[in-house]
Amino acid sequence: MPRNDRLLRTARGESVDRPPVWLMRQAGRYMHEYQALRARHSFLELCRDPALACEISLQPLRAFDMDAAIIFSDILIPLEGMGIGFSLDHGGPKIHEPIRTGAQVSKVIVPVVRETCDYVYEAISLLSEALDGEVPLIGFGGAPFTLAAYSVEGSGSKNYENIKSMMYGEPEVLQALLEKLAETVARHLCEQVEAGAEIVQLFDTWAGELSPEDYEEFALPYQKRVLETVRELGVPSILYVKGGGGFLDIVAAAGADVISLDWRVDLAEARRQLGPDQVVQGNLDPCVLLGTADEIRDRTEAMIRSGGGQGHIVNLGHGILPMTPREHVGLFVETVQDQSNNE
Ligand code: CP3
Repeated sequence: MPRNDRLLRTARGESVDRPPVWLMRQAGRYMHEYQALRARHSFLELCRDPALACEISLQPLRAFDMDAAIIFSDILIPLEGMGIGFSLDHGGPKIHEPIRTGAQVSKVIVPVVRETCDYVYEAISLLSEALDGEVPLIGFGGAPFTLAAYSVEGSGSKNYENIKSMMYGEPEVLQALLEKLAETVARHLCEQVEAGAEIVQLFDTWAGELSPEDYEEFALPYQKRVLETVRELGVPSILYVKGGGGFLDIVAAAGADVISLDWRVDLAEARRQLGPDQVVQGNLDPCVLLGTADEIRDRTEAMIRSGGGQGHIVNLGHGILPMTPREHVGLFVETVQDQSNNE
């Protein structure tokens, strides 16, 4: 156990002195230290250089008292080894040749990630050494549906018409792609754990675009496959589904130890629905950190109150926005630290 064990204790359903706190995308563009490195390297260069990726993961820990570190990488990283080339530099992800046919899916490779993503695991080993047991290290991956959405659409999308026409037109083609993604992501997370990740988060950012019925068919089984593999390694898991508030019972069925919620659900209400034993993470609107100091403090305290103090990992409902003032992040983290369950 790391010396600061609030996150792991909470994920395992044990009690803590106050809720743990970290931020999705805590390593990144809102920090001038990151911007300085980014001015000299492309995003993928940073991801592929273990020493730099380790350095970027440490930047938010030096600036704030976070209760966890997350490895600097991206959910799309394993795609390249699958033969799905992409760029990530301007205006979000761009897949070079979007996957639209069965013939393309049959050419997708399930790679030996130890070789194709070796730099990620090397970065984790370096980070694990640098952390020296101070705080836990979070590994992560993209869930199969979200990775399929990028691979088929070719970029982010408004209506997801390409992947949905595959879903309703040639479901077996999409299923074959999801199988390959599930196998690859499961292996990617296993390697991260082997390298030193102590908990993993699976991001299904786009699965909330599905109807409950389609989620059950095209997202849930593949999340389950990945999470079962992680469970066998004995590390806890966090599942984030943006927009999953309308079918939380199905999200919970994936079997993650922690469910990460966005801001469109009321935290107390979600906890009632999920039951007292389900640990949750979230869920402040990232835009609150663009507001006044009073507003940030009030909203953060209110979130912690509705979280109930135990079984809650404090976080945002989605990644921190690049324009967030750094002092506001400090204020958010300090507000959580001022909470105590023992008063
Ligand atoms: O949380 C962390 O600090 C770890 C690093 C991390 C990044 N991306 C770094 C990143 C994590 C966990 C991710 C996850 C990720 N990436 C998701 C799932 C979570 C979510 O936010 O929904 C998704 C959908 C992606 C795909 C992705 N990567 C997009 C859409 C973009 C461009 C838009 C954006 O927000 O920047 C990226 C690029 C990216 N990933 C950056 C960073 C720091 C910015 C790159 C830059 O410097 O230009």
